[in-house]
Amino acid sequence: MRMRKKKNSDARIARCAEYLIKDASLVTASDVYAPFPDEMRGARVYLELGCGKGGFICDMAKSHPENVYYAVERVDSVILFALEKRKAQMESSPELPDNVRFMIGNAADVCEWFPSGSLSGIYLNFSDPWPKKGYYKRRMTYRDFLARYAQVLADGGELRVKTDNVTLFDFTLAELGESPFTVAWQTRDLHGSEYADGNIMTEYERRFAADGVKINALCAVKERK
Ligand SMILES: C[S@@+](CC[C@H](N)C(=O)[O-])C[C@H]1O[C@@H](n2cnc3c(N)ncnc32)[C@H](O)[C@@H]1O
Repeated sequence: MRMRKKKNSDARIARCAEYLIKDASLVTASDVYAPFPDEMRGARVYLELGCGKGGFICDMAKSHPENVYYAVERVDSVILFALEKRKAQMESSPELPDNVRFMIGNAADVCEWFPSGSLSGIYLNFSDPWPKKGYYKRRMTYRDFLARYAQVLADGGELRVKTDNVTLFDFTLAELGESPFTVAWQTRDLHGSEYADGNIMTEYERRFAADGVKINALCAVKERK
């Protein structure tokens, strides 16, 4: 189903333009630090794919001011909320470093945006499960996606996945078994596990947690060649 454009969404996005990268391939392909202030040069670079309304990336950036963060979302009427959230966060806490940039795009294009080996970590939070038979290749942990993530991650870089969906989680573990990643840890109950410490919740995660749904999570590490 096609999402209806929010009223005034273009004008609202334009008001947050300082946090949005318009043409990612031009800005990031040669220098991943180009969109950030000079003092962030050399920082670890992290990417969230399918960031939705941006709560996770804004909270991560606040908790880890030493890193820089990119967040990609393909629906502009959704990323609008993320942009406005970050703008409000920076206006209320001007002491925070300017370490988040958003992009509107498809996760499948990640290799066009980032130089090989440039990322320390990729986050996939509550990605669409694509449950219909025949649509599994669209899942963001299908092997073709994993191969792209492996290209842009540095050796030892991490892929972190959280999902409520057990079928997607099992599928992800199976795909990782055929990939250049090694699963460092996994849990079927993130909030009740030893990995809950320091976990930053997403918008979807808060809703699932409120309903008592257990969260599956894993960390996979890109093997050194
Ligand atoms: C279920 S929502 C989860 C949002 C957020 N990560 C959270 O946990 O609250 C999945 C989001 O991923 C976005 N998405 C799905 N496939 C994508 C793709 N191939 N590239 C970029 N974004 C995508 C959707 O538009 C949607 O906003």
